[in-house]
Amino acid sequence: MKIAAFVSSSSHHGNTATAVQKFLEGARAAGAETEIYYLHDYDMKPCRGCRACEKTGTCVIKGDDIPLLHEAIRSADAYVLATPTFYGDITGAFKVFVDRCYPFVDIWKDEETQQMRFGSRNKERRPGVLIAVSGSHGDMVFDSHMKVGYFCLNDLNSYPWREFCIPFTTWKPVAEMEDVVEKLYQGGQDLVRHMESGEGEDLARTGAYFARYRELKYN
Ligand SMILES: Cc1cc2nc3c(=O)[nH]c(=O)nc-3n(C[C@H](O)[C@H](O)[C@H](O)COP(=O)(O)O)c2cc1C
Repeated sequence: MKIAAFVSSSSHHGNTATAVQKFLEGARAAGAETEIYYLHDYDMKPCRGCRACEKTGTCVIKGDDIPLLHEAIRSADAYVLATPTFYGDITGAFKVFVDRCYPFVDIWKDEETQQMRFGSRNKERRPGVLIAVSGSHGDMVFDSHMKVGYFCLNDLNSYPWREFCIPFTTWKPVAEMEDVVEKLYQGGQDLVRHMESGEGEDLARTGAYFARYRELKYN
């Protein structure tokens, strides 16, 4: 049972990395194998938006490290996506990573309704965890992190099993937030139990994400 975490802070010892490491510590203690991919250590060119992958499932950009990250996605049984807050939003590195996950999207036309349908080329449905950190803002700042994180998980055929939003790290680093560290560690253990029990996703929870982010109505 393997959990792959993707971290978009440049620091291996910062708040986001610490949060992810604590979560994975808990998961390892419960028997999982874990791997962290620090996105800044990988060459990720931005998506060109050519949409060729919609037909082929393969990216036209050659020579960077994305195939390695895609392999990590394909071979994991659960995902952790983690980002700090930059200017009230996710980091640039996180966005580049998410955009380059587009080859996982499976798009087809429903012959009956003639509507476009969206699925994932990932065959197995897997749990996903979102971790977001901010320096000076409170919880409200995390909406965009959760939205982009959910969209990405959805394209990987993954459901939002749990999220950890950690504000105010400027006042206290994550490593010193004892209650948060405990929650993260426990969360890692819980995820492994969830995977072992074979329990499916909480459809109401996924449905609530869908309703919130996919079916926004603009008047
Ligand atoms: C370029 C930049 C922009 C930032 N913008 C915000 C922001 O808008 N709101 C906020 O609460 N924190 C902001 N921060 C603070 C980081 O989110 C915070 O320090 C976080 O803990 C960094 O995570 P890390 O240690 O994993 O890199 C910003 C930091 C940087 C470097």
